[in-house]
Amino acid sequence: MKVALASDHGGVNIKEEIRNLLEEMGLEYEDFGCDCTTSVDYPDYALPVAEKVANGEFDRAILICGTGIGMSIAANKVKGIRCALVHDLFSAKATREHNDSNILTMGERVIGGGLAREIAKVWLETEFQGGRHANRVGKITEYEG
Ligand code: RB5
Repeated sequence: MKVALASDHGGVNIKEEIRNLLEEMGLEYEDFGCDCTTSVDYPDYALPVAEKVANGEFDRAILICGTGIGMSIAANKVKGIRCALVHDLFSAKATREHNDSNILTMGERVIGGGLAREIAKVWLETEFQGGRHANRVGKITEYEG
């Protein structure tokens, strides 16, 4: 699995946690920034990364900002993206099993690094269940045209 990773200035610390996790899990990944604490605009990170997932360059992406909300709104504008904003372990598992989410967002001003790391691990390890869920996801894909 190839994972793209990015954050704005509000998410650099959790991005670092996730980088360590991806290293430990032995997953192939690329970090698309940002590397600074000066203010940047989250769509400048969310949109190009979401496009890389949509076009198949990457299988999944993890995006971090202050709340996770801006990144998720932007990523979900890209056709083919099913981005889930998650701050608990139950949803991390459920959004993979039911929604086949291909991007995960979290907010560094909402949860700590330890929980973010556990959420990302569960999300990366959980498979889509298919079946009736595939039918539902298919309806979203069909709407996108
Ligand atoms: C940046 O201040 C903040 O707005 C951003 O990180 C994010 O929370 C947006 O949704």
